[in-house]
Amino acid sequence: MKIAAFASGNGSNINALIEKGIKIDVIICNNPQAFVIERASEHNVDCVVITTKNRQIDDYEAEMYDVLKKYEIELIVLAGYMKLVGPTLLNEYAGNIINIHPSLLPAFKGARAIEDAFKFGVKISGVTIHYIDSELDSGTIIMQEAVPIYEGESFEQFKNKIHNVEYNLYYKAINKIIEERNEKSTN
Ligand code: GRF
Repeated sequence: MKIAAFASGNGSNINALIEKGIKIDVIICNNPQAFVIERASEHNVDCVVITTKNRQIDDYEAEMYDVLKKYEIELIVLAGYMKLVGPTLLNEYAGNIINIHPSLLPAFKGARAIEDAFKFGVKISGVTIHYIDSELDSGTIIMQEAVPIYEGESFEQFKNKIHNVEYNLYYKAINKIIEERNEKSTN
């Protein structure tokens, strides 16, 4: 299955997926300064930068769509992509775009989920892998894993636990999708 990953920043999830053996065919990055661009070149994975700043969503998504077609992409994996996906890509890749979010959705949506959960004082947070829809951090859940916050634990400790769970859970979820698609195509 041909996979594209979308990212805007650090790219540690993409890095973990590649190191665990998931083949990413192309990374699309919307931020020319993102560290994920370096990670892509370290792993010899093609990375296409398509800026989104001060541009209309239909315009930049049309450009992204051309790249996805060129690479014959079947699954889009969002990994720290800080934009909502618009109708151009949602319609073309319905049911084929997944996201990772560092909380147990529907709790703590948004860009600061790890911090928000910690500040709220919840005793259990976690990680969610889900299909996306047109809303922020919404769509059918594929997998979730709980991460406890223990008495006296620092924010840094909690954040590291969340990220470690992310790397394994995203890998598991993508593998599950690949296996299900393989089964379907052989039946
Ligand atoms: C992760 O915590 C992911 O859950 C969230 O954004 C962060 C991306 O981190 N959507 P990285 O770029 O993969 O390091």
